[in-house]
Amino acid sequence: MVFPGTGSGPRILAECRTSRPGPVGCADTGLRRRSVMLRNDGVTKICLMGLGRTGAEIARIILEQNDMKLVAAVCSEFSSKCGKDVGEILGIPETGASVYSAGELEEVILEHAPDIIVDFSNARATLKNVKFISENRIGLLIGTTGFSDHDVMRFQLLASKNDSGILYAPNITLGVNVMMLLSNIAARILSDYDFQISEAHHRHKKDSPSGTALKIAEEVGKGLEASGVPVIREIPIHVTRAGGIVGRHELMIVGDNDMIRISHESFSRKAFAAGALRGIRFLRGKTGFFEMKDMLELDKVLLSYFEKHKTAAAN
Ligand SMILES: NC(=O)c1ccc[n+]([C@@H]2O[C@H](COP(=O)([O-])OP(=O)(O)OC[C@H]3O[C@@H](n4cnc5c(N)ncnc54)[C@H](OP(=O)(O)O)[C@@H]3O)[C@@H](O)[C@H]2O)c1
Repeated sequence: MVFPGTGSGPRILAECRTSRPGPVGCADTGLRRRSVMLRNDGVTKICLMGLGRTGAEIARIILEQNDMKLVAAVCSEFSSKCGKDVGEILGIPETGASVYSAGELEEVILEHAPDIIVDFSNARATLKNVKFISENRIGLLIGTTGFSDHDVMRFQLLASKNDSGILYAPNITLGVNVMMLLSNIAARILSDYDFQISEAHHRHKKDSPSGTALKIAEEVGKGLEASGVPVIREIPIHVTRAGGIVGRHELMIVGDNDMIRISHESFSRKAFAAGALRGIRFLRGKTGFFEMKDMLELDKVLLSYFEKHKTAAAN
């Protein structure tokens, strides 16, 4: 369903006249249109989809910012968090942002007109909601993991078809993205070495191996291919799911006589929250499909490195 006036041209969101608390029924209430101009006050309105381990950390950091406002959070269908203030869930004073159930996403959009939905829920929920969010031209930061290549292609198509903004960020920390770049470069240089990946996460993590580990393998594959080595075997990935490990990835590059290890470890979910903040600021007002490499402009950094060396060699 696309809300009236959201299909083309400047984004116009409809607003429901009713407000929380209590279930919001939009079908029988009049819809009031509100253009994006009215809320273009420099404050980005955020709805969090998923207020679990990661979502809660992101909520905390959003609440500390002046240029963004947490307007709502969405949890699972029959969550005990529904109807509560986000502050109550986080153990802080009231925030004014309520928690809604998964089935109330439409109402959330009508009532709060978020500019960006930050999604740290689960892959099934994302796949269910992405079309609806994109059709309503609300920016979507997908931090959730566990998608196939086909799913990611669908995100790209939706962003392009609906002229909406999607930032696909299965690895939101800066460090992990630098690690992927280093993995690609190492594979180009050490193409006759053996590559093995290991990753460790907390016992609740659903996808295995992690999206990041798969992406590191992909970068190694790209690096090997670029150096002319055909990738005939998959890069092995060893998985650990145990206790409360926030997230650890390691690439071992093993030759006959030496070995390199590239590893990254997140000490706390604050690392994800900091990445999400950057993602929100990057996505604000943009349309199209983006990945972390677009946001971090790592290609530009590398280019400037080589340009500098070329200039130094020429002088
Ligand atoms: N991109 C990254 O760098 C990065 C970093 C960390 C985690 N992640 C990913 O983020 C996701 C969440 O991780 P987590 O550890 O925070 O998981 P979590 O603690 O299990 O939290 C998941 C949240 O999603 C909510 N949820 C479940 N079904 C939903 C639905 N249909 N609609 C909306 N919300 C729904 C849950 O609601 P209830 O509270 O009601 O259960 C919960 O709040 C996972 O896919 C994880 O792999 C990505």
